[in-house]
Amino acid sequence: MTTPSQQPSKKPETDPFGPEIEEQAQQLAARYPQARSALLPMLHLVQSVQGYVSQEGIAFCARQLDLTEAEVSAVATFYTMYKRKPCGEHLVSVCTNTLCAALGGDEIYKRLSEHLGEDGKPLGHEETVGEPGEPGSITLEHAECLAACDFGPVLQVNYEYFDNQTPEKAVELVDALRRGEKPQPTRGAPLTDFRSVERQLAGFFPEDDVFRSDVDSPSQAVETLRGAQLAADRGWTAPAMPDDAPLPEVEAK
Ligand code: FES
Repeated sequence: MTTPSQQPSKKPETDPFGPEIEEQAQQLAARYPQARSALLPMLHLVQSVQGYVSQEGIAFCARQLDLTEAEVSAVATFYTMYKRKPCGEHLVSVCTNTLCAALGGDEIYKRLSEHLGEDGKPLGHEETVGEPGEPGSITLEHAECLAACDFGPVLQVNYEYFDNQTPEKAVELVDALRRGEKPQPTRGAPLTDFRSVERQLAGFFPEDDVFRSDVDSPSQAVETLRGAQLAADRGWTAPAMPDDAPLPEVEAK
């Protein structure tokens, strides 16, 4: 017996995903030998339209890729980058994993949550201050290790890095965002907004040279290279890989 979520999706009469998004979804599907592999970028495309993965978004992906809604839901609910509630103009992710937490990440999260909360009620994980999608609205979330431990404590705005944070710097940052400003991240691309970044994560990038040069510029820093530098200074090297090292058998599929 099939449940409604296992049946093929029919296109609703009012579809928030117009012909242009449908065409882009098909471009994504064409990038892979098996169309279903395009599900991850397609979910980002859906988020670029609505600011989250709605039930309509799940049905849209299912129709585009000939999957059931249950299959799409299973993926969309597994990864934390797919949001189940509409996000603010900006998504602020504070790393509260062990290293950042010990360096002050917990304090930063607590301060932001109290600062952005209203009527004495701190803003909770994945809650939004302001009308989702409207200018100045912010969604706050705890994040696991953001892969920038050498700059901890860190936070991200729309996945762009703000390194070496303090509670005071983080409060200044969110206040600037609420005023409509776009402070420059410590490295990487200039700040835009959550939905624009979701389009990039879907694989559609701005066509301008400034964007490219910001993204392609070197991102190593002294802190990142400290281990390599120490090894070089002390003459340490890793044992060379022998030319005849046995490799594990890989079963042909
Ligand atoms: S623990 Fe925060 S970036 Fe790794």
